[in-house]
Amino acid sequence: MQQERMMYRDLKDELLLTKEQIARRVREMGAQITQDYRMEQADLVLVCILKGAVIFFADLLREIDLPVHTDFMAISSYGSATKSSGVVRILKDLDKDIVGKHVLVVEDIIDSGLTLSFLRENLLSRGAASLKICTLLDKPDRRKVDLHVDYAGFQIPDEFVVGYGLDYAEIYRNLPDIGVLRPEIYEK
Ligand code: IMP
Ligand code: MG
Repeated sequence: MQQERMMYRDLKDELLLTKEQIARRVREMGAQITQDYRMEQADLVLVCILKGAVIFFADLLREIDLPVHTDFMAISSYGSATKSSGVVRILKDLDKDIVGKHVLVVEDIIDSGLTLSFLRENLLSRGAASLKICTLLDKPDRRKVDLHVDYAGFQIPDEFVVGYGLDYAEIYRNLPDIGVLRPEIYEK
């Protein structure tokens, strides 16, 4: 009876992705990553981009059958509540250096691509051996920069979504499913 939670009233009726669909896809992604990094496992660092990716990260991590290291970064992209500007500020940096490490950045959603293209250059300049990008959601129609995404869970249409870690004004992160926020919520 999840749909009776109060916050579901702010979503369009049809959920975009149910928790079952998400779990199934996360399992597949974990298996793929396990296979792809089997040779580099000693130096694999998964970097969680706070806060949106935290739930995806926690689930994905448990689907990877390799001895991974984890680290966390918090970044804020200036802009309106529903659009990023690409001007990125690091609020919390990695704890450890990544020289010679194989870095897999785990993000919740890629929209314009501006945040990740900044991050990609920033992390590569620190001497990582390799850098790949993994995102749960991808809105390819909105891309403003050319960005190669190595692992994408779902391609979704150009709509503002919340749940499973994704927020609007810091709420809805704790919804187990992903839905489209009713525009009247952010237009008022
Ligand atoms: P980009 O720099 O435009 O790719 O922005 C990516 C960031 O914008 C994500 O990490 C999210 O924080 C935020 N974002 C973009 N689209 C959505 C959405 O539909 N729901 C919630 N957050 C979003
Ligand atoms: Mg984010």
